[in-house]
Amino acid sequence: MRVKVLGIGMGPQHVTPEVAGELRSCDYVVAARKRVDDRLLEVRRAVCEQYGVPLVEFDDPQRDRDTVPGNGPAHYADAVRDWHEARVRSYESVLRERGGTAGLLVWGDPSLYDSAIRVVERLAARNDLDWDVVPGISAPQVLAARHRVVLHEVGRPVHLTTARRLREDIAAGQTNLVVMLGGALALDGLEDWSIWWGANLGTDSEELVAGRVGDRLGELAAARARARAAAGWVMDIYLLRGPG
Ligand SMILES: C[S@@+](CC[C@H](N)C(=O)[O-])C[C@H]1O[C@@H](n2cnc3c(N)ncnc32)[C@H](O)[C@@H]1O
Repeated sequence: MRVKVLGIGMGPQHVTPEVAGELRSCDYVVAARKRVDDRLLEVRRAVCEQYGVPLVEFDDPQRDRDTVPGNGPAHYADAVRDWHEARVRSYESVLRERGGTAGLLVWGDPSLYDSAIRVVERLAARNDLDWDVVPGISAPQVLAARHRVVLHEVGRPVHLTTARRLREDIAAGQTNLVVMLGGALALDGLEDWSIWWGANLGTDSEELVAGRVGDRLGELAAARARARAAAGWVMDIYLLRGPG
């Protein structure tokens, strides 16, 4: 058995020639199907159709959403581990049944906030499996390109984080952050910071806003609502830079 973990960027227009070549060499693509309204599965289906590779779907195991980080890191880690294990078993049963080379299509790039590599590592630990990873275009790259910015100042670092950790990271002294996995924007106290924000990047419902946070709050909320109304979902990402 062989698995190829392939980054597909934000959709078919971002599939690189390298990923396209690897995809054509797959016997099939395997993907989890969420219970409701799985738009990312639709993108995977479009990519598979474009490259003539069959798509094998299975129902995504439910994660225990009642267990939230606030219940304690141990509970949360257990819930995520159980969910990963259930996913591993689902992939395993498809791979064992079909054999050959399977592709796993990852939104953006597999190195950022995605479980595919961890799932395949676990599969490889208990099966005779070769596997490779091929990079895709990630949301931070598209954000930077759309705003025509470098994610950090000359010779300085950029801190990649989640909205959930933002306050903690700022309290720890971070002043140049790329923030992913957010819900509603919560930027109180950061009025003098600069923001470069993007939602649904690379899609028809893309929205962009940039400027001083305090001057852009209304515009940000309106753009976020527009993206959600146009697409039925919203995924956003932003670069935040402290004053001075
Ligand atoms: C589960 S992570 C996946 C990241 C992905 N592997 C990548 O390389 O960009 C999902 C988060 O990435 C960001 N993201 C992914 N696609 C996006 C898009 N098209 N527009 C804006 N943000 C996006 C959002 O912060 C979203 O909450």
